[in-house]
Amino acid sequence: MENVTIKINGVQISVPAGSTILEAARMAHIKIPTLCFLKEINEIGACRMCVVEVKGAKSLVAACVYPVSDGMEVWTNTQKVLDSRRKTLQLILSTHRKECLSCVRSGNCELQQLCHELKVDDENKYAGEMQQSMVDDSAPHMIRDNSKCILCRRCVGVCENIQGIGVIGANGRGFSTYIGQAFDMGLAQTSCVSCGQCIAVCPTGALTEKDSTDQVFAAIADPTKHVFVQTAPSVRAA
Ligand code: FES
Repeated sequence: MENVTIKINGVQISVPAGSTILEAARMAHIKIPTLCFLKEINEIGACRMCVVEVKGAKSLVAACVYPVSDGMEVWTNTQKVLDSRRKTLQLILSTHRKECLSCVRSGNCELQQLCHELKVDDENKYAGEMQQSMVDDSAPHMIRDNSKCILCRRCVGVCENIQGIGVIGANGRGFSTYIGQAFDMGLAQTSCVSCGQCIAVCPTGALTEKDSTDQVFAAIADPTKHVFVQTAPSVRAA
């Protein structure tokens, strides 16, 4: 395959034509943070954590979906890039239930880790209206808590592209967008095969395994107790 020559942070590298900036950076061992990207599974440029500066481009571009071209010059760590990533994290946190200390993913959460790396500690900077969120406790093997969902759609990608089931997707529009099943069915009412791959790729605590036999048997034995419910009604910060 034909190669192109580009510069990333002043370092000249040769990469296959058609590569994305993210792929080129990874070949050169240059780290660009990502949240939504999963190679060949979820390449949708949704989260904007991977933004970089490209010489001549009018705005920052998402490295995970932006193809390289011969002679391109890229910067991954300018002040503009870092400010943009921090603002993105602050906006994500503005609709995120921030109870990290009691979250099962605390210490193993990509969102938490990125906030730490980028020194985002003013988590309430954009406090305002919170989205309505849902907890789906209907399935025997897992819980979806959308108050921790960042709409990265990794779960949607693996369900559709790896498992070939496609029972989850984005519902609603704009600020009201949420991930779930069609017609707000509980997961237990779908053809979900309980593979758990969506849990494995979730970057936050939105998807978690049921952690006790009690929870599993309760879901199977009492479907009326474990139903798709609305929680955390829309609130406005004071
Ligand atoms: Fe590139 Fe999410 S990782 S937009």
